[in-house]
Amino acid sequence: MYILGIETSCDETAVAILRISPLGRVKVLSNVVSSQIEIHQKYGGVVPEIAAREHVLHIIPVVHESLLKAGLKPSQIRAIAVTVGPGLVTSLLSGVETAKALAYAWKKPLVPVNHIEGHIYANFIDLKKPVKFPAIVLTVSGGHTNLVLLKGHLKYQIVGETRDDAAGEAFDKGAKMMDIGYPGGPIVSQYAASAQASEIKLPRPMINSVGFDFSFSGLKTALLYTLKKDSNWKKQIPEYCFELQEAIVETLVSKTIKAAKKYQVKTVLLSGGVSANKRLREALQKAVLDKLPGVAFGMPNLAYTTDNAAMIAMAGYYRFHAKKTVVWNKIKMDCNLELR
Ligand code: KG4
Ligand code: ZN
Repeated sequence: MYILGIETSCDETAVAILRISPLGRVKVLSNVVSSQIEIHQKYGGVVPEIAAREHVLHIIPVVHESLLKAGLKPSQIRAIAVTVGPGLVTSLLSGVETAKALAYAWKKPLVPVNHIEGHIYANFIDLKKPVKFPAIVLTVSGGHTNLVLLKGHLKYQIVGETRDDAAGEAFDKGAKMMDIGYPGGPIVSQYAASAQASEIKLPRPMINSVGFDFSFSGLKTALLYTLKKDSNWKKQIPEYCFELQEAIVETLVSKTIKAAKKYQVKTVLLSGGVSANKRLREALQKAVLDKLPGVAFGMPNLAYTTDNAAMIAMAGYYRFHAKKTVVWNKIKMDCNLELR
């Protein structure tokens, strides 16, 4: 079957089409992402009103391009999956209203998808072996930091989450403090790669706390005060970036391994925009190998780490099979949608 996915929860207008064989083999036929990063860069963050207008301008051309790249006609699409939340309300609206209109015009079922669920399912796009459940998934993005126990397909239990800032936010706000650009994650990681080590010491928040929750706002404050005390910080940006990245990665890896042990999982997965981070990818993979014998590790290809619609179509496929579809006028958007 062919499934079309639409993602507009933040600042990427994305449409993808997957072909999924009866045996479950997945081929991404198109994965079009129209990014607004350059537009928001000058404001140092996403401006919701601008994001909304950009989605309206781009969504139909992106749907067209996706169909064209896949070489398909609308009649060949079996279902339309769309992100219904969580996200910016005015951004989500473009995707959801477009999906509704297409579902009505093309007479297709709609599959509502949770954005975090989409990130989790990015792991299922290029699978080499079937995932063994239970799995623990570290989902780290600009808006979310979750440890999700995946007991089976579509069976989620959040066992840990951030109490304040998300991991991606810690990268973004850290970069903003050092005035090195937006979005901070890739820039911090680039600077960090040019330092071998760092004398600077930042805290690993809640690393030894009971449970699996995270907190990154204290790290941000610690960075702010360390920078204030250091008159020479501008000459040490790579070292600051190195330590900021280490503090975030070490905390994420440590909690994930602890949760994997507690829940006796068979697989550890990684997802979300921050999963594009090379250091995190390597550190988590190594920790699973060293500390969790017999446990499998998986992570999405880089193309499916930051926001994209292939992951939404992938999650949509599993929802479609679980008969979690709705007709065009029954879909509901929820900007605070919980994972369930
Ligand atoms: O999943 P995503 O594209 O959007 C949300 O759902 O929030 O994640 C965006 C986040 C941003 O905070 C960005 O700085 C971070 O992912 N990010 C990275 C890297 N690439 C993107 N963080 C660390 N290292 C990266 N290479
Ligand atoms: Zn995301």
